[in-house]
Amino acid sequence: LADGPLKGRHVLVTSGPTHEPIDPVRYIANRSSGAQGTAIAAALRDLGAQVTFVTGPATVPPPAGVQVVRVETAREMLAAVEAALPADAAVMTAAVADWRVANQNGQKMKKDGSGKAPALEFAENPDILASVSKGPTRPRLVIGFAAETEQVVDHATAKRVRKGCDWIVANDVSPATGIMGGTENAVVLISAAGAEAWPRMAKDQVAKKLADRIALALQNS
Ligand code: C5P
Repeated sequence: LADGPLKGRHVLVTSGPTHEPIDPVRYIANRSSGAQGTAIAAALRDLGAQVTFVTGPATVPPPAGVQVVRVETAREMLAAVEAALPADAAVMTAAVADWRVANQNGQKMKKDGSGKAPALEFAENPDILASVSKGPTRPRLVIGFAAETEQVVDHATAKRVRKGCDWIVANDVSPATGIMGGTENAVVLISAAGAEAWPRMAKDQVAKKLADRIALALQNS
């Protein structure tokens, strides 16, 4: 482990999308690449933290020097997160699917020749961030993310309270910003103290700046 201000600290990071099965060969997913979560885990590692990296099926490889726990579904992610606690801080970057398929098929679904399409039913997934924030083994610092397309600060401020986390890293993912799928990010850090807009910078720089802030917060508490 690197020497640094987070030496001796355990930090949990979730990253990537989740896959929610329809049948043994099909799933529902989202477009998360895992890039921002991976950058954050690497930046925390570089400050000396012991990092547990719970990741869904991301397209970017996990960083070296962290403990990688691979999961598929939101419910598996929740179980892996609970198993990884306690931690000094948790950074929940994952794009967790809000719903899973309730009427999953045990076998591959087949066309039956009738021309009728099957109907999927959905059930709500657990909210991992809220569950950790309000759980019995709450890390001292819990950080969530919020991707918004309008009224970014208002929505993220409400989300911070609703989820019970300490900070929300909010960004505007409207197509015009070019942030989604791009290499840069412009975020607003929302805490109990208010909203702090960071200048637009590379996602790696956002990760470094956030890791520095986490180190500072853990030092001062
Ligand atoms: O409510 P929304 O999905 O916008 O909240 C985003 C934040 O909540 C992210 O930090 C994400 O990782 C977390 N989240 C979660 N479990 C869910 C949904 C979101 O941990 N089921």
